[in-house]
Amino acid sequence: MPATALLERTAPLYSRVRSVIPPIEWPVFAEDIDAILALKRRRNAVILAHNYQTPEIFHCVADITGDSLALAREAMTVDAEVIVLAGVHFMAETAKLLNPGKTVLIPDAAAGCSLAESITAADVRLMRARHPGVPVVTYVNSSAEVKAESDICCTSANAKRVVESLGVPEVIMLPDEYLAQNVAAQTKVKIIAWAGHCEVHERFTPAEVRALRTDHPGVTILAHPECPPEVVAEADFTGSTADMSAYVGREKPARVVLLTECSMADNVSVGHPDVDFVRPCNLCPHMKRITLPKIRHALETMTQVVTIDPALASRARAAVERMLAV
Ligand code: 13P
Ligand code: SF4
Repeated sequence: MPATALLERTAPLYSRVRSVIPPIEWPVFAEDIDAILALKRRRNAVILAHNYQTPEIFHCVADITGDSLALAREAMTVDAEVIVLAGVHFMAETAKLLNPGKTVLIPDAAAGCSLAESITAADVRLMRARHPGVPVVTYVNSSAEVKAESDICCTSANAKRVVESLGVPEVIMLPDEYLAQNVAAQTKVKIIAWAGHCEVHERFTPAEVRALRTDHPGVTILAHPECPPEVVAEADFTGSTADMSAYVGREKPARVVLLTECSMADNVSVGHPDVDFVRPCNLCPHMKRITLPKIRHALETMTQVVTIDPALASRARAAVERMLAV
């Protein structure tokens, strides 16, 4: 195929992302994008992409985008036979839990998460033994094994609502210590936390927030609730990745910084050319394992297929479904 025909065909897609992808990089992306769009039709597949995926994935090949909660919800409405999860492994597992009859592919099965890796099913059993009768609320950033030991799941978008929905004075909230502390600051429910941290968000500091305000007068600072509570206390708004994106659309701040993963600002800035995005950010090495060539390879070879031990799948699914019902 002559390169000019390919570039002409993909020109409408490039016009979406030209503010964040230099023209010299586009021909490399265009070839994989073109192939992926054809493969999606051939395989009857859809691509679900998290807000931290790079713009050429997020804006050019994804069918559904969003935060963890949106991806979990949307996964259930998908008609296609194949779901490719452009995100990390726990997200692909959640999609599989909610769609046991569909083929769920993850382009790189090594795309993990420091929170999911911070806790095992045995740890949850230990917490239950230490706090008899106290319900376990587990962040979706966890393995299916850990979800199976839990009463209910939550995401950063619904954590407070889920905790309060249980109608109890005390809950165990796993595995993100900072999310647990940030929720504890907003509710009367006593929260027993686990010492897991997100390796991306734990690196933001209150000193960094103060320096941002000095260097960029008038900047609006949005923080993800996986950030330490001292960082959240200095921010103007705290919310999930979807909440941050909605805030920018609603409030249209002249200048904003998103204290979260780097691709988030790129993806949101595409729809808001009038907003000045100040960009200190931290990269998630796990999210960055997902690339266009790996998505193409996944669809060409129908690998890597996500499977969940049936012995624990029904218990893990129940915890996710209880969350979705809240
Ligand atoms: P969201 O649910 O806010 O998209 O967060 C997922 C995540 O992994 C944040 O680090
Ligand atoms: Fe996990 Fe943090 Fe990466 Fe999100 S950003 S996937 S919580 S390591």
